[in-house]
Amino acid sequence: MKEISYGIFLDKSSGKIFTKNLVPGQRVYGESLIKIGKDEYREWVPIRSKLAAAIKKGLKQVPLSKGMKVLYLGSATGTTPSHISDIVGETGIIYSVEFSERMMREFLKLCKQRKNLIPILADARKPSSYEDLIEKVDVVYCDIAQPDETEIAIRNCNMFLDHGEYIMLAVKSRSIDVTKSPDEVYKSEIEKLKSHGVKVMDWKKLDPYEKDHAFILGRF
Ligand SMILES: C[S@@+](CC[C@H](N)C(=O)[O-])C[C@H]1O[C@@H](n2cnc3c(N)ncnc32)[C@H](O)[C@@H]1O
Repeated sequence: MKEISYGIFLDKSSGKIFTKNLVPGQRVYGESLIKIGKDEYREWVPIRSKLAAAIKKGLKQVPLSKGMKVLYLGSATGTTPSHISDIVGETGIIYSVEFSERMMREFLKLCKQRKNLIPILADARKPSSYEDLIEKVDVVYCDIAQPDETEIAIRNCNMFLDHGEYIMLAVKSRSIDVTKSPDEVYKSEIEKLKSHGVKVMDWKKLDPYEKDHAFILGRF
């Protein structure tokens, strides 16, 4: 098992990636668990998590490490947040915003096991509604599949991110504009980020793991 970025491990023989399980014995979405010495690793499945897909596609950097604070927009039932929870560890924190009550009900079960996940039932379009619950963070992660998601991400960055910190954005082409080709959509979202002063460090198309999706890493 080789550590390819802080807290992210590659099994060279299978090509699978893993995080070290913060809650040994517990699966989150049916992923496999393997024990090596006294540590347990959880497979990070790229067809289930866009960040895992971006890593598999060779994303240049994953700006996550122990103790970091993350604002996660669109946590759903917690698949990707659970791996970020493994990486940032007990001293880190993931403020997790989700507006679907049904998703949040499932997510709350995970938050009981993982104390670094903080659930926030709110609309990411209105960051002022959760302003009092959140401190400044190191990373804003946005995966909400909305036509205006880049604007929403920027609004949250303006509020909770210092300049020089990181933004990670999962782009679902069809949610943004069905009339444009995915490549045109990715290009226009990248230009939008740049026009707001974001330095785009890398981006990857996520096929074959996620069709017509891209993942963008930038510095705010
Ligand atoms: C593609 S799923 C996220 C999957 C998750 N990020 C993962 O990788 O495990 C998108 C989620 O964003 C949520 N969402 C969409 N618009 C939102 C908004 N304006 N505010 C908060 N959550 C939103 C949806 O309810 C859905 O659960």
